Amino acid sequence: KLPTHVSIVEVGARDGLQNEATTLPVSVKVDFINALTRAGLTRIEAGSFVSPRWVPQMADTAEVFACLPTDTECTYSALTPNEKGMQAAIAAGAGEVAVFAAASESFSQKNINCSIADSLTRFAPVFALAKQHNLPVRGYVSCVMGCPYEGSVKPEAVLQVSQALLDMGCYEISLGDTIGSGTPGATQALLDTLLKAIPASKLAVHFHDTYGQALANILVALQQGISVIDSAAGGLGGCPYAAGASGNVATEDVVYMLDGMGISSGVDLTTLVAASAQIFSHLNRPPTSKTMAAFLAT
Ligand code: HMG
Ligand code: MG
Repeated sequence: KLPTHVSIVEVGARDGLQNEATTLPVSVKVDFINALTRAGLTRIEAGSFVSPRWVPQMADTAEVFACLPTDTECTYSALTPNEKGMQAAIAAGAGEVAVFAAASESFSQKNINCSIADSLTRFAPVFALAKQHNLPVRGYVSCVMGCPYEGSVKPEAVLQVSQALLDMGCYEISLGDTIGSGTPGATQALLDTLLKAIPASKLAVHFHDTYGQALANILVALQQGISVIDSAAGGLGGCPYAAGASGNVATEDVVYMLDGMGISSGVDLTTLVAASAQIFSHLNRPPTSKTMAAFLAT
């Protein structure tokens, strides 16, 4: 049942850099994204069109997009929480956009300042514009295995909002373990519920690695036929509205595991490690990826 190929969605330049204390210059971000492309990544989240007051690290997303190559196989996407963000994404030439909702009411309020139901209403013009401009829309659901404010989250709540996003026009739902609290058992329980109603081909997993469970959870997802994995180079990342949540699972660690399992991803580890080393040289902290540390040590 394991997939033979996995598509990696590299979120380091968005989910990673949105949570770093250091706001990097446009040129550094662009060099990083280009280095990720050279490593073989073809789906790259390049930024987000959100309020610069909420997430100042992403305020220069339009400038980043302006510097990205257009003659490439790579799809550069951006988060768009509302019509204003969508207009900006279209103007910037984003190749794909993503809306983001939550399975927990409290997180929805803290992250996007509205209820889950209101967030779906705000997404309606995003879908209308996406249709008009022929842009694919990805849907994120946060807090799929736990909420920093409410604790445990029921798989049924995740199903409900995932289904709503698919009905509105998302081509894929990325399941966000925002605080990284999920374990393989919880992942299995979540997928047992979701896969009764949604095909594996429409699901992606987006695991933060706070408790070191991400790779184990990914293995469960692979065994259930899911073949899209979100990860961040070097383990960059976190979430400004989930205190203590650490970065996404490191892309290097995912690729190392996939390589070992004979599952192709198209990503070259050595080139990827160089890309991550380059971005971390601009941050005041070391990478969290164990695979990256091992590569750099040998
Ligand atoms: P709001 O304050 O409720 O919105 O924010 P508003 O419509 O009342 O507007 C207030 C001000 O924001 C206005 O400016 C708007 O123009 C401006 P003012 O008139 O006061 O100067 N504004 C915008 N500016 C730029 N771009 C926009 C935009 N929209 C309004 N798109 C809003 C609502 C959603 C905008 C706000 O709450 C926000 O930006 N939140 C940021 C959320 C965010 O980026 N979170 C991190 C990403 S999600 C994540 O990391 C989870 C994920 O990785 C999955 C997982 O791990 O779970 C995806
Ligand atoms: Mg995230």
